[in-house]
Amino acid sequence: MKIFITGGTGAIGRPLIAELLAKGHAVVALTRSEEKAHALTEQGVEPAIADVFDADAVKAVVARARPDVVIEQLTALPKTYTRESMSAAAPFNRRIRLEGGANVLAAAQAAGVRRYLRQSVAFYAVPGAGLADEETPLSIDASPAVAADARVLSEIEHRLLGTPNIEGIVMRYGFFYGSGTWFNPDGDVAQQVRQQQFPIVGSGEGVWSWLHIEDAAIATVSAAEQGNPGIYLVVNDEPLAVRQWLPSFAKWLNAPPPPQISVEDALKGSGADAVYYGTQMRGASNAKAKRELSFQPRPLEWIGKHRWRN
Ligand SMILES: NC(=O)c1ccc[n+]([C@@H]2O[C@H](COP(=O)([O-])OP(=O)(O)OC[C@H]3O[C@@H](n4cnc5c(N)ncnc54)[C@H](OP(=O)(O)O)[C@@H]3O)[C@@H](O)[C@H]2O)c1
Repeated sequence: MKIFITGGTGAIGRPLIAELLAKGHAVVALTRSEEKAHALTEQGVEPAIADVFDADAVKAVVARARPDVVIEQLTALPKTYTRESMSAAAPFNRRIRLEGGANVLAAAQAAGVRRYLRQSVAFYAVPGAGLADEETPLSIDASPAVAADARVLSEIEHRLLGTPNIEGIVMRYGFFYGSGTWFNPDGDVAQQVRQQQFPIVGSGEGVWSWLHIEDAAIATVSAAEQGNPGIYLVVNDEPLAVRQWLPSFAKWLNAPPPPQISVEDALKGSGADAVYYGTQMRGASNAKAKRELSFQPRPLEWIGKHRWRN
């Protein structure tokens, strides 16, 4: 198939392009930069140079590419994962998803694209007992930043799934780890854990569902090839509470054990979003992705011999 990808030069885009090429697909990737366009060409990818906020330019490059499938992976995330950097990046990150995404979707419609995949988030499911599934709504009443992101993502999911004449597929990814992410040993969270700046909040019962960035790529290519229109939760097999994964992660990094702080102190120092991630977040089920996409996620690499038992 011919696939047009936005965000192809970013953290998820890089392994996604590698997987698409390995599966024999022809790939056209959007970028703003001549330099990245050159690197894409060297990889065997056809670059399409445009800014996603320039609706006419996006329409022109998608029309020229005539793809069967569009995959949208646009983000504007910071290099560091702190309250300040995430707050500073959030408005533009929401705008690129809403406005940039609208331009890409309109261009795909105009070009008669058959299928359109876009990224969303597995870890904003409404908190509750057990694992979230694809029917679980996003948590639009959660802590401020989570709620704001969840509202934008809900709107974008509805927009895509309600677009006529296009097979819309939403990939709700878990927490990325692996190369180019905050949780890689060279990433920002790993650095914070080494400096004991990434605490367990309260009793650490927030449940995180993880996803290796290369498994995200594999599942996305599978969805492009054989998925059904609708939502897929794409996460690994073992959702883990913070009190389980964080001490094991620290051990794996040869870092000191993480500190523990009270919910009150977390609220004062880091805000309600830190309490959401630390104590309220709900894990997600990958049953549908396994059933329909033959998804086989790898085990989390810092669990196993580094497993911390409570
Ligand atoms: N869970 C995690 O740990 C996680 C997950 C993702 C990212 N991150 C972190 O977040 C930081 C940035 O990640 P990233 O690589 O995804 O982000 P990035 O370098 O900002 O890339 C975002 C992608 O969106 C594209 N893009 C952004 N604005 C655009 C525009 N106006 N028009 C067209 N395309 C546009 C970029 O294309 P061009 O630049 O080629 O134009 C790029 O492909 C990294 O430090 C990474 O570690 C962490």
